[in-house]
Amino acid sequence: MNTCELIEKLYETNCLETDELLFVLNNMDHESFQQLINRSHETSLKYYGDSVFVRGLIEFTNYCTRDCIYCGIRCSNKKVNRYRLSDEQILNACREGNLLGYKTFVLQGGEDPLLTDERIIYLIKAIKQEMPECAITLSIGEKSYKSYESYFNAGADRYLLRHETASERLYKQIHPKMSFEKRMQCLWSLKEIGFQVGAGFMVGLPGQNHEDYLKDILFLNELKPHMVGIGPFIPHSDTPFAHSKGGDVKTTMMMIALVRLFLPGALIPATTALGSIDSKGREKGLLAGANVVMPNLTPVEQRENYLLYDGKICIGDAANKCRYCIEGRIINSGFTLDLSVGHHISFSGKCVW
Ligand code: 5AD
Ligand code: FES
Repeated sequence: MNTCELIEKLYETNCLETDELLFVLNNMDHESFQQLINRSHETSLKYYGDSVFVRGLIEFTNYCTRDCIYCGIRCSNKKVNRYRLSDEQILNACREGNLLGYKTFVLQGGEDPLLTDERIIYLIKAIKQEMPECAITLSIGEKSYKSYESYFNAGADRYLLRHETASERLYKQIHPKMSFEKRMQCLWSLKEIGFQVGAGFMVGLPGQNHEDYLKDILFLNELKPHMVGIGPFIPHSDTPFAHSKGGDVKTTMMMIALVRLFLPGALIPATTALGSIDSKGREKGLLAGANVVMPNLTPVEQRENYLLYDGKICIGDAANKCRYCIEGRIINSGFTLDLSVGHHISFSGKCVW
C-alpha cells in the first residue's frame, strides 16, 4: 500500500502495523499530508463535533529540582527569578477563570521541593468547595503512587505528565539523573488510580528521528491516555540547547493528526508552544485534529518567570484578553468555543469507551 492508502486504513481502523506507520512517517509528501490532516479533522468532528474545550492554566511555582536539558526553568538556570504563588493567589486565579467561563483549572508547576501533598490536597478541596462544577487538572511531575492516590481521593480529576519522548536513548540524553522506566510507570499508575491522564511529547528535539516518533505513537497507542499534549521543542537561550534548531509547524501538525487517528477520542491541545512558533500555530493545530486550548491564568506579574522556551506568547496579556483572543481564533477557524467541563468521552456518560 502507498502512503495515501495507509492513511485511509488508519482512518478506517484507527490502527496500523509498526512497519506501515514507519512507512507513512518516512514517505509523507504534500498530497498525503493534506489527506492526513483532512482525515484527522473529520475524526475529531465525528467524536467531539466542532467543540474546542478550554482549560485555564495556572503556573503556580517555577521552583524545580529537575535539570531537563531543554527546559528554561531547569534547576541549573540561575537566571530565573523563582516564585511560588500563595494559596490565595491560586484561588483568585481560579475565580478569575471561573468568571470568564472556564470550568477546568490546570495547576502546573515545576517539581518544587517545598510543595507538600498536604498543600496540594488543601488546594484541591478549596477549589472544589467553591467551584464544585469545575474539574481540576494537576501537572506537577513525578510523585509516588500514594501521593497520586491522595490527590485523586481529594477530588483531582485529571493529571498531565508528558512522557516527553518514548525513545529511551533520547529520554536519557535530555533528562539527567531521571529514569525512563519511572516516567512510564507514573503514567500507568495515574491511569490505574482513575485519573483522566495526559501524556505527550515534544517534536523536533535535537537528534529526534522518525523511529523516535514511531515509538511515541506506539507508546500512546498502548497507554491510551485521555489527553495528549504535542508541541514543538523551542530552544531557550539559557539552556545547553540554546543554539539548537527547534521543531516545525508541519511535523507538529503531522504528529497531532496521527495521534488523533490512533486515539480518536483523545483531548489534544493546540499548544502554546505551537502558537509561539507561528502566529497561526494554534489554528493550524486545531485544523490538524486538536480540540483543546489552554489560555493562561497565571498572574501577569509572574508570567515572564515561567519561560520554558524563548518567544512564549501571551506573556503580558491579562486573562480576559486571552479569553476573547482565543475565542476569536477558534471561531475564525470554523470551530465553537465549548465552555462545558469537557471531560474525555469515556468520562462524560455519552459513550462507553
Ligand atoms: N520547548 C518546548 N516545550 C517545552 N517544554 C519544556 N521545555 C520546553 C521547550 N524548551 C514542555 C515539556 C513539558 C511541558 C510543560 O512543556 O514537554 O512537559
Ligand atoms: Fe493570549 Fe491571544 S491567547 S493574547
